[in-house]
Amino acid sequence: MAGLIPQSFIHDLLARTDIVEVISSRLELKRAGREYKALSPFSNEKSASFFVSPTKQFFHCFSSGKHGNAVGFLMEYDRLTFVEAVEELAKRAGLEVPREGGGAFERLVLDGPLDALAAAERFFREQLRKQPIAIEYLKKRGLSGDTAKAFGIGFAPDSWDALTKFFDNPLHAIEAGLLIPKDDGKAYDRFRNRVMFPIRDTRGRVIGFGGRTLGNDPAKYLNSPETPLFHKGRNLFGLYEAKQSVKSELPHLLVVEGYMDVVMLAQHGIHTAVATLGTATTREQLALLYKSTRKIVFCFDGDRAGRSAAWRALEQALPEVHGDRECLFMFLPEGHDPDTLVQEIGADTFRERIGEAMTLSAFLLGELAKQANMATLDGRAKLAALARPHLEKLRPGPLQTLMIDELARMTRLRREDFAPSSSGNHNAPPDRQAHAERANSRSSASMVESGATRPVRRALQLLLERPDLADSVANTEQLLSADVPGIPALVEALEFFHENPGANGGQLLEYWRGTPKAAALERLMRQEMSLDDAGIEHEFADAIRHLQQKALRSRLDQLFAEARVRTLTRAEAAEAESLTRQLSGRRTV
Ligand code: UTP
Ligand code: MN
Repeated sequence: MAGLIPQSFIHDLLARTDIVEVISSRLELKRAGREYKALSPFSNEKSASFFVSPTKQFFHCFSSGKHGNAVGFLMEYDRLTFVEAVEELAKRAGLEVPREGGGAFERLVLDGPLDALAAAERFFREQLRKQPIAIEYLKKRGLSGDTAKAFGIGFAPDSWDALTKFFDNPLHAIEAGLLIPKDDGKAYDRFRNRVMFPIRDTRGRVIGFGGRTLGNDPAKYLNSPETPLFHKGRNLFGLYEAKQSVKSELPHLLVVEGYMDVVMLAQHGIHTAVATLGTATTREQLALLYKSTRKIVFCFDGDRAGRSAAWRALEQALPEVHGDRECLFMFLPEGHDPDTLVQEIGADTFRERIGEAMTLSAFLLGELAKQANMATLDGRAKLAALARPHLEKLRPGPLQTLMIDELARMTRLRREDFAPSSSGNHNAPPDRQAHAERANSRSSASMVESGATRPVRRALQLLLERPDLADSVANTEQLLSADVPGIPALVEALEFFHENPGANGGQLLEYWRGTPKAAALERLMRQEMSLDDAGIEHEFADAIRHLQQKALRSRLDQLFAEARVRTLTRAEAAEAESLTRQLSGRRTV
């Protein structure tokens, strides 16, 4: 049985495909301004109504209404299925189509470190099937074959060259950190006699591995080294799998320490666990997690080491917990990690424990209070001093307000004594998550079509023509404050082109395939672009400026609304002032 084709592969494939080449090998295309045209292959006609846009990597046939990217064209013209169309394009590009979930494996045509990693994943999986000791080990630990499969767990044989021999050329595998180069220009296997956990990026591409020894190697776990593709502080094991497990937003994400913990929890039906890659949690990882959920629960050992790891996590979390974001801490009974605990108490009781996790403020204030004798005046002053730097890391918002209230109560000081100085975070971007959520709760179908305002639609349409313009928008997240229909999609498109330099509209379309956004995007792509490059740049800048101004105004309105029901913090007041200044400045020019 052939598995699914990874979306990341299709993305890369489209990057290497030129729709104009694909179509011109089947139809006679003529230049027409920014586009190419031809007589429609789908209907009998005298004048050309079939257009191909090289910039958008999109075709549209006005007489038949058919349209799409290169995959879509082959499906229509060659009457292929989706999979066949992808295979056809892959053949043109000299690539082999990888499959999730195995199938027979042959040598791949290797094109870069990502291909080497994908090939290595298949190789390790195949080895696991063949090696009884590895299967025995996983069985002994209680891991089922299905779970191993779901995470793509494999095995690196106890050999110096098993993987090395698998590659015709070691270059990309060395680049990917899979092989270690020797002086004689050859290479040897980095991972030997280890159960292999593939680590994926948020698009599901394998970017590295963690390997657990089956022997008594002093390094129990060995991780891929940092490479241009693999940054330990920017990725999390299990995040892709967690996101795949739900259709909508994740109710929470549970940050645990070990790969085995993630895997074993998933086996018990708790699909929300992710693990850091052998390092402490970074702020970047938290920001990444908050893109997929509003609630992060850290899960640590109850011992001293666990508590101090939790404290380090808390310090990273403070600046990221704002708006409606939550951060909680769960401590395990001594001698347990999530892997052993869930096997012992079962998923339901484990879930109850997640539900009982300690709030960030309770953990923070509790730990600080331990360091100060609250019965004395000096002790209370000490608590106030200890707390202040942490408060200042928080963005103004309900959490900060509540913490200040609580501290004032505990120390018997006034609230004002804790108000952070206005040099704090007041010019940080508005709370993206809250806005994104509000926007997402509206029907996403309303996005670029009827609901979206003209500047949103226009900006997106221009962006499709010139994806490089995404780089001219500095503060993408800020736009979300504009709170107009379609904005989240525009922001998502901007970020897509930010993250994928050189990508085109056809690839974005593929990325959104099957969502209401794709349909709306197609409608936009069909529209002809009459402007030249300078015109596009100018109008795009105009549309963005308009939306940015709207964003500033919404944020200001929001602050004014708050001011009616409570006193603004100093930071908020400063923000309001700066917004007023920016807005009036704009109006006079
Ligand atoms: P643990 O030793 O707690 O891992 O390390 P674990 O998952 O519970 O291991 P076993 O298989 O059940 O015995 C937690 C995490 O710390 C990193 C790995 O990411 C591991 O999953 N680690 C640990 C290393 O990077 N290197 C090591 O030598 C040990
Ligand atoms: Mn363990």
